[in-house]
Amino acid sequence: MNYQVIYLESIDSTNSYLKLLCREDIIEEGTVILAGYQSNGKGQGTSTWHSSQGMNITMSVLFRPMIRVLGHFSLSEFISLSIIDCLKHFGINGAIKWPNDIYVENKKIAGILVENSIVGDKIVQTVAGIGLNVNERNFPEYIPNPVSMAMILQRNIEINKVLDVLTDNLSCKYEFIKQPGNILHGQYNEKLFRREIQCSFQSENEKFQGTILKVKKSGALVIRKQDSEVCSYMHGEVKMVID
Ligand code: BTN
Repeated sequence: MNYQVIYLESIDSTNSYLKLLCREDIIEEGTVILAGYQSNGKGQGTSTWHSSQGMNITMSVLFRPMIRVLGHFSLSEFISLSIIDCLKHFGINGAIKWPNDIYVENKKIAGILVENSIVGDKIVQTVAGIGLNVNERNFPEYIPNPVSMAMILQRNIEINKVLDVLTDNLSCKYEFIKQPGNILHGQYNEKLFRREIQCSFQSENEKFQGTILKVKKSGALVIRKQDSEVCSYMHGEVKMVID
């Protein structure tokens, strides 16, 4: 797939802008909106996404996957793995904190916001928002545990180089999501943050200790609780507590 990058110095949110463009115009698959600054960057749920002017990658990419809704999690998988491989290219070993945060050791380096449009049982449009901390070194206090590529590598990195590697990876891995034996699911599980390590979780009604066993193709997280009971959770039903 070919990417066409539209750079905007400042916008409220690249996801919102790309969705708006799609409503008003015929936009090609592979269109990338890259912002120097977002005045209202959106995170998962009600959270926001902070990024100082010109310091990081804040972008949204348009896909028209035409896959069944049941396979929606493969979108999170291919985007997460594209970021993981991009970090690896620069010598950084990342992990995927379920469902799609990218961590380096115990700190968050990237976040993903996937917004799908569905017609019938097909995902006809995906706006994939990616926030990757590249050269930011001073994060606001309210962000729990942030890190950037520059903080890890102790040098600044050219944002365009990161962008090239990332879009190449996205292009390459996107091809796999439609294949029946999609190899990305196994790779996603291999890169899972704190897999097979006991840690704390918070669900709606309890805090508990458990061990992540795997993530199912549906995107459900499978945890073995301390009493050996095995439970599956969908996105939003449980949170890992990072201590
Ligand atoms: C999260 O971890 O909560 C998801 C963060 C996603 C942030 C990116 S930055 C580019 C794109 N535009 C937005 O408004 N959000 C996503």
